[in-house]
Amino acid sequence: MNRLPIIIDTDPGQDDAVALLLAAASPELELLGVTTVAGNVPLSLTTLNARKVLELAGRRDVPVCAGADRPLDVPLVTAEHVHGDTGLNGVDLPEPTLPVDARHAVDFIIQTLRERPAGTVTLCPLGPLTNIALALRRAPDIATRIRRIVLMGGGFFEGGNVTPAAEFNIYVDPQAAHEVFTSGVPITMAPLDVTHEVLTTQKRIDALRALPNRVGPVAAAWMEFFERYDEEKYGQDGGPLHDPCVIAFLLQPGLFTSRDCNVRIETQSELTRGMTVIDWWAVTGLPANAQVLRHADADGFFALLTERLAALP
Ligand code: BDR
Ligand code: CA
Repeated sequence: MNRLPIIIDTDPGQDDAVALLLAAASPELELLGVTTVAGNVPLSLTTLNARKVLELAGRRDVPVCAGADRPLDVPLVTAEHVHGDTGLNGVDLPEPTLPVDARHAVDFIIQTLRERPAGTVTLCPLGPLTNIALALRRAPDIATRIRRIVLMGGGFFEGGNVTPAAEFNIYVDPQAAHEVFTSGVPITMAPLDVTHEVLTTQKRIDALRALPNRVGPVAAAWMEFFERYDEEKYGQDGGPLHDPCVIAFLLQPGLFTSRDCNVRIETQSELTRGMTVIDWWAVTGLPANAQVLRHADADGFFALLTERLAALP
C-alpha cells in the first residue's frame, strides 16, 4: 500500500488525542512524527499527553518532539475550562516510558520535509499554528516541499468559540495563522462549521465504550469529559469532535463537502482577533488560498472512527 506520510502537530486535548488514535490505527497513513505545541494546556502537558496517547495506541515507534511553548507575539491563552487541568481529563493513563525526542519540533518538521521527496509530506496541525509558522520562517524552502496542510481551525457561519469572532486555535496565535495562510502552501481547513456537525452523541460514545479493547473505553471517557462544556453551552446531545475531522478527511475525503475560498486572518483588531475572514461567496475577487470544509457525513465519520479504533490494543 502507498501510505500517505504525515506529521501531526498537536496540543492534546481529548479531541487531539482521538485524532492521534485514528491516525495511529490507519494503515493508509505513515505517521512520521508528532510535534507538540502550547495551546489547550502548556507545552509540558501537551507533550506528556501526546506520549501517553501514542503509548496507549501501541505506537512507541513514532517520535514525539516538543515545540513552541508560547505564541509568536502574544501571551499564551489556554483552555483548562474545556479540557480539564491536565488537558486529558476523563481517564487517568499511566506515566509514559516513551521518551521525548531530542529534536525540537521545528527542527524535526524542517529536517523531515528536506529529507523526504518534495511534495509528499502532509502537515496536520490540530492546535495553534506556532510551530508551522516558525518552520516556514526559519526554512522558507520547505513551503514548496509540503504536499498540503490540513488543519483544524477557524469558523465562518458558526462564528467563534473562544470569542464571538474567533475559534481557539487561530485566536491563540493569529500571527502564526496569518503567516501560514499567506505562505502559498495548499491548505485544507476544517472550521467549526464542519466540526459542529460531528457530535459525540450518547449512542456514538456507547459504541466506542463497547469495543472489546482498552482504547474504546478510554476514548469514550475522554469524549464524555470533553463534551460536557459544549453540551451545556449549546444545549444539545454531544459536543463537536473537532480535530479528528482532519484525519478523517485524509482517510475519506468523500465524507466532507468543501469550497475553495480566499481566507484571511485578523491579527490587529482587539474585538475580532483571530477571526478567519472566509470569502465564501467570492465577493473580494481575491484568489482562493484554502479548501474550506463545510458539511460532514457524521454517521460515516463515526463508523470510520469506531472501526479503526477497534483495531488498536
Ligand atoms: C480546537 O481548540 C481546541 O480546544 C481543540 O482541541 C480544537 O483543536 C477547537 O476550537
Ligand atoms: Ca487541538
